[in-house]
Amino acid sequence: MIASTDGVSATESATAAGTQAVPTLVQGGMGVAVSGWRLARAVSLSGQLGVISGTAIGVVLARRLQDGDPGGHLRRALARFPNRAVAERIVERYFRGEPRRPGTPYRAVPVPRWRPSRLFTELTVAASFVEVLLAKEGHDGSVGINLLEKIQMPTLAALYGAMLAGVDWVLVGAGIPVHIPAVLDDLARHRPCSLPLTVSGAQPTDDFRMHFDPRLIINERPAPLERPRFLAIISSHVLASHLARSEEGRPWGFVVEDPVAGGHNAPPRGRLTLSDSGEPVYGPRDAVDLEVLRELGLPFWLAGGYGSPAKLREARAQGARGVQVGSAFALCEESGLDAELKDAARREILAARMRIRTDPLASPTGYPFKVAQLAGTAGDPAAVALRRRRCDLGYLTSPYRREDGTLGYRCAAEPVEDYIAKGGEESGADGRMCLCNGLLAAAGMPQVRPGLGAEVPILTLGDEVGEALGAIAPDAGRYQARDVVDYIMSGAVG
Ligand SMILES: Cc1cc2nc3c(=O)[nH]c(=O)nc-3n(C[C@H](O)[C@H](O)[C@H](O)COP(=O)(O)O)c2cc1C
Repeated sequence: MIASTDGVSATESATAAGTQAVPTLVQGGMGVAVSGWRLARAVSLSGQLGVISGTAIGVVLARRLQDGDPGGHLRRALARFPNRAVAERIVERYFRGEPRRPGTPYRAVPVPRWRPSRLFTELTVAASFVEVLLAKEGHDGSVGINLLEKIQMPTLAALYGAMLAGVDWVLVGAGIPVHIPAVLDDLARHRPCSLPLTVSGAQPTDDFRMHFDPRLIINERPAPLERPRFLAIISSHVLASHLARSEEGRPWGFVVEDPVAGGHNAPPRGRLTLSDSGEPVYGPRDAVDLEVLRELGLPFWLAGGYGSPAKLREARAQGARGVQVGSAFALCEESGLDAELKDAARREILAARMRIRTDPLASPTGYPFKVAQLAGTAGDPAAVALRRRRCDLGYLTSPYRREDGTLGYRCAAEPVEDYIAKGGEESGADGRMCLCNGLLAAAGMPQVRPGLGAEVPILTLGDEVGEALGAIAPDAGRYQARDVVDYIMSGAVG
C-alpha cells in the first residue's frame, strides 16, 4: 500500500483512481538492467512505485542465466511462466549450471527484427515476465515497466510478458507513444495486436507493422489480464496536449522530464546550438508550460533533478502528484549497475571530480544522451579509442526499406563502412557509441571479445545527482533504495 505521507490517505487515493494507489514517488525506469527487479521491489516495498526497465530485457535474462543465476531466482520465476516448454527451452539454452568463467564470451541472442525469430519473441516475453514477477514477489505494492518508444521491435512481446506477471503501470518515453493504450487493451484480452514500425524510405503502400499474437505463448483462452495504467514520458506540453486529446492515445497521466535527467534527453527545440563544451543549449522554448499540464487535468509527475525533499515540495506546489527520480536510485545498492562502477561514481561525484556531459552524438537515436566522464568508461576518450565498432545486439537499429521492398537494419554506431553500405550518411556515424554493449557492460554483463577484451561500460547519470548523494551518503558510502525513498519523501510530510 502506498504510504500516506503526502497528505492524501492511501485509501482515498486508491479509491479516487481505481484499484491501485497512486504513488508520490516514481522510481525511474533505467535501462539497461539498472532498474532491475531488486531495485523495483525495494521501492515498491517502501510504498512507492518501483519500475523495472524492459529495455533489451531478453539479453539481460540470457546473460544472467549464463552467469549462473545466483540464488536461483530467475529459474524460480521461469518455473511460473505460463508456457512450460518455452521456459524450459530458455533455461536449457542459456543456463550453464555453473557461472561463466571470466573471459568466456556470452552466447549470442537473436536480434530484434520486423518479423522476429520465435526465440526472440519467447525470450522477450519470458524475460519481462520474470522481471515483473520477481519485483512483485512478497508484497502487494505496485510495479511498473519502462520502455523506450524508439525501440519498437520488442515492445509488444515485452508488454505481454509484463502483463502476464501482473504489471500495474506502463511508462513509455523517448518518442510519441500514441499507440500504446490500445495495445494494452488488446493484450489484456489476449488479442493479437500490432504497432506501426517506423521504416526509413517506406512507401505509402507499404505496411510495416509489428504483429504479436499471444497464442504464440498461450494456447487456450485464459481469463483477461489486469490492464495496467499508462504514463507517457514527455518533455513538451504540446505533445502532452496532443496525447491527452487523442481518442486512441490518451494516457492515464504524464511524467514530465527535464533535460537535466539521466539517460536520453529530448533535443532542444529549433536549430541545435552547442555550448563551448559541445553540449546542446536549452532555452526558454524548451521549458514545459505546467499551466498547460494542469489544465489537461491528468495526473503528472516531474522528473529530472527532482531527487530531493525540497524539489518534491516544489513539484507538488506546481500541481504535480509527485516526482520521478532516477539517478539517486541508480547509485544505490539494489540498482543493477556494476558495484565498483557505483562506488567510483559516488566517490568522484562527491569529490567534484566527475562531469556529466550531455553528448549530442553518443546515442545512435540522435537524441542527446548523458555520459558520465569517468575513467575507464566511455566518458574517457582513452577507453573509447580502444573499442572497435560492431553491432551484435541490434536494439537501436533503425529499419530501412531496400529498393526491392525488403527491410534492412542499420545503426549509426555500427562499423562506418557497413552503415554507409546500408545507405547511412558518414556524418551520421560520427561520435556514435554502442549503447547496447556499453550499457550492458555498465550493468556488469560486458561481452568479452577474444583478443580484444571486455566491452567498455557507458555510465549515464543526471546532472544533479550530487545533491541527493551529499545528503544520503556524504562519505560516498553505500546506501539502500529505502534511504532514497525516506530522504525524498521527507518533503511530503506536512
Ligand atoms: C542510469 C539511467 C538510465 C536511464 N534509462 C532510462 C530508460 O531506459 N528509459 C527512460 O524512460 N528513462 C531512463 N532514464 C531516466 C529516468 O527514468 C528518470 O526519468 C531520470 O533519471 C530522472 O532524473 P534524475 O536522473 O535527475 O533523477 C535513465 C536514467 C538513468 C540515471
